[in-house]
Amino acid sequence: MSIILAIESSCDETSVAISNNGKITANVIANQTIHQNYGGVIPELASRVHQQNIVPVIQQALLDAKVNKKEVNAVAFTRGPGLLGSLLVGVSFAKAFALALNLPLIAVNHMHAHILAHFIDDPKPTFPFLCLTVSGGHTQIVLVKSYSVMEIVGETLDDAAGEAFDKTAKILSLPYPGGPMVDQHAKLGNPLAYKFAIPQIKDYNYSFSGFKTSVLYFIRAKEKQNSNFIAENLDDICASVQHSIVNILLAKLNKAAKELGISEIAIAGGVSANSGLRAGLQKMAIQEDWRIYIPAFEYCTDNAAMIAMAAHYKYIDQDFVQQDVAPLSRMEF
Ligand code: KG4
Ligand code: ZN
Repeated sequence: MSIILAIESSCDETSVAISNNGKITANVIANQTIHQNYGGVIPELASRVHQQNIVPVIQQALLDAKVNKKEVNAVAFTRGPGLLGSLLVGVSFAKAFALALNLPLIAVNHMHAHILAHFIDDPKPTFPFLCLTVSGGHTQIVLVKSYSVMEIVGETLDDAAGEAFDKTAKILSLPYPGGPMVDQHAKLGNPLAYKFAIPQIKDYNYSFSGFKTSVLYFIRAKEKQNSNFIAENLDDICASVQHSIVNILLAKLNKAAKELGISEIAIAGGVSANSGLRAGLQKMAIQEDWRIYIPAFEYCTDNAAMIAMAAHYKYIDQDFVQQDVAPLSRMEF
């Protein structure tokens, strides 16, 4: 039996989960609404709010799982990548908890954990599979060979897909967090209303910085002609931007799947909550005869259940770290 307490604090969600032999028995997430006032995550505020939230969130997770802290067998935490001040709160708390109860410590790579979220519920992918990992900071196509061996076969050379959504939302003066707002408006609009520059990048890599600029210039030009352009066409703009981002993402995923001969395909990370991406992947799966894995909404954006899941496999391998471990804002894959 292994009861693992896992902490996620890499960005603006303070989350604690508990797993019992690989089964998630609690997953508490405290969202930080304070960043809404600023249109984006303010790192210093994020660390302070993690500091306020961490103890109540731990207590709630133990309550939900009906676990006494003395029954915990290991403590896991997100080591990186993420905001250093935010990571420090989770890492320091995990170290103190482990020291006080004489428990082993498990360090988890946040991006691995997004992928391993697919092992929380059934159906689970079989190895090797390809995972399009799309979040606020990353856009990667990962060849997942086992729970611990993962290889990036393509990635963004500049902005992440989540940033393209968030920056579009900002241009359109939509409130933070932008991605889900663009998604909501896109549901009501025409995805073919406007066309944007599609990046021509080699191999399985992505680029979203030129795309973002093309959206900005397009909106500026239209607003010059009609100062109500955004208000009058918001749904169509969102639908068209989303359609383009989804097409860019899926085209490279398709190329990688074909050339690597893999038909077991997953998506992960915050942007995998996007309705256009989920629908586009389903359509492509039928065309290409893929078996696809789309995470439940609660496991798309940041959560500690995925950290607990990744930690479960590390616990089996006895892959522990020492008390001198430090967070890494950039973490090698
Ligand atoms: O994985 P995540 O929660 O945090 C990071 O590790 O970055 O991803 C957050 C990103 C943000 O850019 C957010 O706007 C985007 O995921 N996102 C979405 C949707 N839900 C979250 N983007 C598009 N459509 C959504 N429904
Ligand atoms: Zn994430």
